Amino acid sequence: MPRSKFVAGNWKMHGSLSANLSLLTAVRTGVAGFRAQVAVCVPYPYLAQAQSALAGSNVAWGAQDVSEHVQGAYTGEVSGQMLNDFGCRYVIIGHSERRSCYGDTDAVVAAKYAAALKAGLTPILCVGETLTEREANITAQVVTRQLDAVIAGSGVDTLARAVVAYEPVWAIGTGKTATPAQAQEVHALIRARVAAGSPDVAAGLQILYGGSVKPGNAKELFGQPDIDGGLIGGASLVADDFIGICAAG
Ligand code: PGA
Repeated sequence: MPRSKFVAGNWKMHGSLSANLSLLTAVRTGVAGFRAQVAVCVPYPYLAQAQSALAGSNVAWGAQDVSEHVQGAYTGEVSGQMLNDFGCRYVIIGHSERRSCYGDTDAVVAAKYAAALKAGLTPILCVGETLTEREANITAQVVTRQLDAVIAGSGVDTLARAVVAYEPVWAIGTGKTATPAQAQEVHALIRARVAAGSPDVAAGLQILYGGSVKPGNAKELFGQPDIDGGLIGGASLVADDFIGICAAG
């Protein structure tokens, strides 16, 4: 069975009630009947809005982070159970902006991944190297280390209930996209690493590419053998662009 394509939008800290309504409505209508799976990961305050605007459509929704804790005195945090209350299916875990700005170490990412699964959510686990790391030729080590932290914590079999996103940090929001060959190389490496633990899980795992995906480059990226779709930042805020990317899936 070929893996289906999956395109997820990461709105980051963008949006307003009024702007979201037109974006959600346009996406809902625009991707109806598409072959690819589609989701949008919105800021926490807009989960209720996403739920009501997308219910009954083929667009799923989710959050961009989750606490590693179940509940308690953790001011400002949001639990997996709370995300469930709003019908979330997905949650982004370990995005590079969380890793670099908010102290999400490999250990924290592994704990958040475990918490998401425990709540029944599908983690979209982000991995990727910085420009310095790529130039130092340690891309494979970095991505493997990030992946291994999660496998060590939760077991390789849990990746059957997760999605991985390869996002080279130097390509995020920069307009610089990894070439399809550069991305494919790392995607193949990720799949091989998972296959070492479970060939079946590796064969079914959706591995998304993220980093300046646009309607113009999506088709070629998604055409690579180990690229199963995309995690889309900037272009997910523009309905026509996001729909165009979903059409390539
Ligand atoms: P971008 O962001 O598409 O704006 O490069 C991707 C991401 O950060 O998930």
